[in-house]
Amino acid sequence: MRFIDTATFALAASSTASAGVIMPRAATVNQLVGYGAGTTGGGSGAGTTVTSCAALTAAAKAGGVIKISGNLDGCGIIKIISNTSVLGVGANAGITNGGFQIRKATNVIVRNLKFHLAPKGKDQIDIDESTKVWIDHNEFTSAGITGDKDQYDGLVDVKHGSDSITVSWNKFKDHWKGSLVGHSDNNAAQDTGKLHVTYHHNLFQNVNSRLPSIRFGTGHIYSSCYIDNPTSGIHSRMGAQVLVEESSFTNTKSAIITNLDSDEEGFAVERNNIFTNSDINITKPGNLKVPYSYTTDPASGACAIVNKSAGVGVVNF
Ligand SMILES: *[C@@H]1O[C@H](CO)[C@@H](O)[C@H](O)[C@H]1NC(C)=O
Ligand SMILES: *[C@@H]1O[C@H](CO)[C@@H](O)[C@H](O)[C@H]1NC(C)=O
Ligand SMILES: *[C@@H]1O[C@H](CO)[C@@H](O)[C@H](O)[C@H]1NC(C)=O
Repeated sequence: MRFIDTATFALAASSTASAGVIMPRAATVNQLVGYGAGTTGGGSGAGTTVTSCAALTAAAKAGGVIKISGNLDGCGIIKIISNTSVLGVGANAGITNGGFQIRKATNVIVRNLKFHLAPKGKDQIDIDESTKVWIDHNEFTSAGITGDKDQYDGLVDVKHGSDSITVSWNKFKDHWKGSLVGHSDNNAAQDTGKLHVTYHHNLFQNVNSRLPSIRFGTGHIYSSCYIDNPTSGIHSRMGAQVLVEESSFTNTKSAIITNLDSDEEGFAVERNNIFTNSDINITKPGNLKVPYSYTTDPASGACAIVNKSAGVGVVNF
């Protein structure tokens, strides 16, 4: 069921809606929905505000609410422990040449941060053996689809039996490897029955592949915008189940694909999507029905809504 929140509008400025058209937005912008539901992070206290890598590293050891003010450059990989929220202050907070590792943790929130470039071979956010994670209203970018493909690893990777995760209202741009869910065809024992991830209201633009790539797990993708992704988009493999709905794909090769580069195919259901100069190949029809309620926005408005209401500076801390 869809509820139109008439108090909230996004000004359409995308290739899928003509400029100047007002698109009503149905989904609530400041709400955790999907498989990550119930994640509370560090709770609702004021927390600690940090303005340096040293302060961030120290605060991360204690957990709780950590607010980053300004852009922190060169922090390296920061370990985020259980029961932590890392929140950007205003519209200019971020991490350059660094990243977060969420490992053997539960209950972690990361919101309103600009991630740009990572240490060599590293992910901007790496989630391993962890549950209940909410990645919301961030921007993930690097140098584009150029240079060494392996200079950086993923933008947001979910691996090693992680579970119960929502990735919402983020912008993923200018990078080789987007979001890897399940790292290897050989990891069935740890990943089967895990890796439930909801992706909604995200922008994927000029990212080569893995938007996401998902092995063994379960992915629900809705009301998202895909533009200019040259190799592959939503890649279901090794028996993964994906449901893709109300999303817009423009100039995206293999926008939804189930039979690429793995020992076994994946499953997919697609409904109410828009494909413009974008192909799909679903060789195994899926059957995913998600166990939660959610509000979609229509594919025709997804790009305008995400352009306006995803990324930093939309939710305020
Ligand atoms: C997003 O909005 C900006 C500014 O209105 C516009 O230049 C850009 O083309 C839009 N991008 C998409 C993907 O809609
Ligand atoms: C996280 O918080 C919960 C609730 O307060 C607590 O029971 C749990 O021990 C905490 N976990 C860790 C690893 O600190
Ligand atoms: C899908 O992939 C199969 C190979 O597995 C190929 O035979 C078929 O032509 C492809 N369909 C489309 C629509 O590309």
